[in-house]
Amino acid sequence: MHRPIRKAVFPVAGMGTRFLPATKASPKEMLPVVDKPLVQYAAEEAVKAGIEVLIFITGRHKRPIPDHFDKAYELEAELERRGKTKHLREVREILPNGVKCIYIRQCETLGLGHAVACAQPVVGDEPFAVILADDLIDDGEQGCLAQMVERYRRQGGSLLGVERVPKEHTDRYGIVSVSDFRDRLGRLQGIVEKPAPEKAPSNLGVVGRYILSASIFEHLANTRPGAGGEIQLTDAIEQLRRHEAVYAYEFAGRRYDCGDKLGYLQANVDYALKHPELGAAFAEYLRLRGQRVA
Ligand code: UTP
Repeated sequence: MHRPIRKAVFPVAGMGTRFLPATKASPKEMLPVVDKPLVQYAAEEAVKAGIEVLIFITGRHKRPIPDHFDKAYELEAELERRGKTKHLREVREILPNGVKCIYIRQCETLGLGHAVACAQPVVGDEPFAVILADDLIDDGEQGCLAQMVERYRRQGGSLLGVERVPKEHTDRYGIVSVSDFRDRLGRLQGIVEKPAPEKAPSNLGVVGRYILSASIFEHLANTRPGAGGEIQLTDAIEQLRRHEAVYAYEFAGRRYDCGDKLGYLQANVDYALKHPELGAAFAEYLRLRGQRVA
């Protein structure tokens, strides 16, 4: 029996430079895809996977994130007074009862590895999940993290969510080499951060979903700044896999890189098309627009 995954870490302290000027004074994770901020999709995915404690690693200009998950007394009273019950429900049901949010401030943006290390006092010695909210993943049903938790229950260890990336884009990802890859899972033999295409060991790129053993904290404590001068989670995972089983899991579903303008726009189009209230009208708009362009 493997220890359950009860806690998820959301590193949301990054500067979001690829999305400037939108991210100058407000967090990238609050950018909406249609009508919900990215961080809410991430929190909902975690809850669907059975997570009970959400640990946000925040930084400057990130106040809207705790505000979003907090109770909004004035807004709720006003919606109630106006009889706007649907909106009231949407605001009240952002997280189910019983799910706890904890906020830890990362005072300096020293890298993703450093952000994850900031969660150690709250995570303690249990295995935990990490979700990067700007990687929005649509699997159409249970959610990417729930898929990973299901696999973790079978074989334990640590799991990295991976997808096949175009060969010319390996320098944007942590790239893994694996052995015995079958049924979407392979044992990690190595991982390198952002290798040039000619040096990449495969085209399996790590995306923003992880299940990690608490031993990762010891390795993070010994990790020096790597690629880009940042403390890289990838480097600590490379050390972890030398001591414990780490697996790469090719999840089912489509990922949108919402930290990037093009990926963000694609997510908005696809989510708008399947939105129950907007989908049909938006599809019609795109159809007419396509005719005009043609
Ligand atoms: P990114 O590489 O996407 O960095 O970080 P970023 O700053 O958010 O965006 P760009 O590249 O400048 O446009 C991956 C994840 O790690 C978090 C980010 O918030 C993002 O979710 N992160 C990164 C931190 O929490 N702290 C850090 O020091 C660095």
